[in-house]
Amino acid sequence: MKHRVTLIPGDGIGPEVVSQAVRCIEATGVDIEWDVVTAGEEALKKYNELLPKETISSIRENKVALKGPLTTPIGEGFYSINVTLRQIFNLYACVRPTKLYPGIKAFFKDVDIIVIRENTEDLYAGIEFKADTIPQKELLRFISKYTQKELPSDTSFSIKPISGFASERVIRFAFEYALKLKRKKVTCVHKANIMKFTDGLFLDTFRKISSEYKDKIIAEEMIVDNMAMHLVQRPQDYDVLVLPNLYGDIISDLCAGLVGGLGVAPGANFGDGMAIFEPVHGSAPKYAGKNKANPTAMILSGVMMLRYLKEDIYADKLEEAVRTVLKENRFVTYDLKLNRDDPTAVGTKEMADAIISHIK
Ligand code: NAI
Repeated sequence: MKHRVTLIPGDGIGPEVVSQAVRCIEATGVDIEWDVVTAGEEALKKYNELLPKETISSIRENKVALKGPLTTPIGEGFYSINVTLRQIFNLYACVRPTKLYPGIKAFFKDVDIIVIRENTEDLYAGIEFKADTIPQKELLRFISKYTQKELPSDTSFSIKPISGFASERVIRFAFEYALKLKRKKVTCVHKANIMKFTDGLFLDTFRKISSEYKDKIIAEEMIVDNMAMHLVQRPQDYDVLVLPNLYGDIISDLCAGLVGGLGVAPGANFGDGMAIFEPVHGSAPKYAGKNKANPTAMILSGVMMLRYLKEDIYADKLEEAVRTVLKENRFVTYDLKLNRDDPTAVGTKEMADAIISHIK
């Protein structure tokens, strides 16, 4: 069956890793027609728009997209287009599998954790009030009136909305995903001891939903700081994690570090009947255009996409080829060599060539 997929090359290292991922996906023999559109810095240059209408309509029409990373300026400038895309299409569940492949040097064996991050609210909702603005002054007055707390007048705010609705849909998604993949345990990660109303609501919702699955899946709760420590001590003990947005972002990078780094960490954002696949990593501008970045995270995001398209045979072929190249540890990029200056490290394209040569 022919699939039509929206393809967003992205910024920085995006175009390099995306083009190699496309070559690898096509080498499996799967029939995909790519609808190439832009977003982010490239779209800004070309169309003077960060998220052109054509990009939005292409995703809406095709319902599946493969996306490279997009740059977001730090501390100033425009809001994240990644976050905007997740919000526009209600892609409420971000799934980031962190599986240790043979051949990758890591401190632990048998790490196989799936991080499921709520994707639409929390501190990423984009509700912010800058110090010394009229809304901020009103907010200061409101806080003083209702909490009797007097904050410094130059305080800025980021609001953390967490709803029962969004918590329930991502937690239910996590249990269903765990069931589908025959996983044994779902751990809810929170800080409800301090944030009683927001994380408290997330945790209460977890308790309610987990009771519906109690005969099928183990449910566990963990405070986020404790989770961070446990993950670097005993990652083998964890299976599926479900977290509010911010903790999910941080913990998924931590988990990526356990299995070889951002270069090998794929991801997907799921909504109802729609999905965007993208690596965990960003646009790594310092490596842009150098044929240096590891294409694996992007390729494995493609494997996740093939599974979503119910093309498991092609997904298996591609994942197996990636596994072989990682195991041999010969034709891999600098980040997968024991010594990062190893002169035998290959470039982005050459690693993809090696993967393609193993597709059977
Ligand atoms: P980053 O993930 O781009 O890079 C951090 C470091 O990880 C790099 O310096 C590099 O050492 C390593 N790295 C990342 N990808 C790699 C790859 N494929 N191969 C080898 N090494 C790799 O994170 P950073 O520097 O915090 O963000 C850069 C830009 O990317 C920012 O504008 C940020 O907003 C954006 N970003 C976009 C994301 C997305 O589009 N989903 C996700 C994360 C960041």
